[in-house]
Amino acid sequence: MTASTRSVGIGIIGLGTVGGGVVRLIQMHRDDYRANHGIDLTIARACALDPSVAEELGIPQDRFTSNWNDVVNDPAVDIVVELIGGEHPATEIFQTAFANGKHMVSANKALLGRHVEKLAQAAADAGVQLRCEAAAAGGIPIVSVLEHDLAGNKILTIAGIMNGTTNYILSRMADEGLGFEEVLSDAQRLGYAEADPSADVDGFDAASKIAILSSIGFHSRVTTDDVYMQGIRQVGADDIAIARSLGYAIKLLAIGRNTPEGIDVRVHPTMIPATHQLASVSGAMNAVFVVGDAVGETMFYGAGAGAFPTASAVVGDVLALADAMTRGGAPLPEPEPVQRTLAIRPIEELEAGYYIRLALDGRPDALDAAVATLAAGGVPVQRAERVDAGAAVVITDICVEGALNAAVDALARDLGDTAVASVIRIEDVAAWSKGACAN
Ligand code: HSE
Repeated sequence: MTASTRSVGIGIIGLGTVGGGVVRLIQMHRDDYRANHGIDLTIARACALDPSVAEELGIPQDRFTSNWNDVVNDPAVDIVVELIGGEHPATEIFQTAFANGKHMVSANKALLGRHVEKLAQAAADAGVQLRCEAAAAGGIPIVSVLEHDLAGNKILTIAGIMNGTTNYILSRMADEGLGFEEVLSDAQRLGYAEADPSADVDGFDAASKIAILSSIGFHSRVTTDDVYMQGIRQVGADDIAIARSLGYAIKLLAIGRNTPEGIDVRVHPTMIPATHQLASVSGAMNAVFVVGDAVGETMFYGAGAGAFPTASAVVGDVLALADAMTRGGAPLPEPEPVQRTLAIRPIEELEAGYYIRLALDGRPDALDAAVATLAAGGVPVQRAERVDAGAAVVITDICVEGALNAAVDALARDLGDTAVASVIRIEDVAAWSKGACAN
């Protein structure tokens, strides 16, 4: 160890997939961190429920505990890394660590998506930092991009594929023509989807991530509860095939837009042109498309989950804190958290195109009747065509969602409750760049 090398102790709480990845990454590169950063990163304490996990990772017995209090109260721990997820006891871990003057690194999107303001305030009050690069899009360094690299911009749009499980499912449905349930079962068997897939397939995971990123990018608090959320359970193999024939891909997008009328923030299955960069992101990969008024369109691609990609984000945060420590001081305290300054736009105000799949009876005039009903409701129909004897598709031009919903209700009244088989938003991707500076 050189004279200028500083020893920094981390305490890890949670030795599951990500925690194990963090330990292995540090073990693998410890010499490089010493040589390149002047930091001797040690795992001062590790906490898990099962001691055999720590043993397998080569963590000495005297550094293992099954009580998180031992980690946050250990004087040898400078930085606490929380990787257990969920709200409790993670909240208590944050609070105790801050009270003890320890910095926190966390991948806990569920907690931060809902309560980051309170936690960031506690960190600011204690003069320590809270870092969460791994909480949004795993290995993609998007938090840092928004906080630092694009700070000179007004961020207009953050839109992306932020959930690998659903992108994997939709990609296989598209490639193999299979239904949602069939692919989900297979994804669970292969370990791509959790036994309880709800947080992923119903949109909560992506909603937490877009809430975190929107707060940072738009400098106004957005919480997971502000995000309109619709998952992928209703997307049919038919919809994907028809969308493809019309030149679209269907992706579960998480979208945050900073519009003059407020923040438009939502997660739902979205039709985008098959030629759009996000349409080519397949399998379990993630990508985040960011439009800044100065930089214009940018896109960041990478693994959103997995042991090493997520560990890459966690250890990046740890090294950023440790770097500041080696420069002789403490890292700057967390800034005062952003407050809600911009309104959240209700989904009824969204302006989009819409794909409507209709299940029609044998009436030859049923499609004409449907088009007339939509037109009477002020919905501009761009095309309407039969797919086969029992089904038809209507594509609308851009209209307001509230009007669309009322017209769809009228369709169900006129043609029967089962007539509207599916409605999917067609994103106005050109609007993502509205407000960008002209070159
Ligand atoms: N379950 C998430 C996904 C990874 O499928 O992308 C962790 O957020």
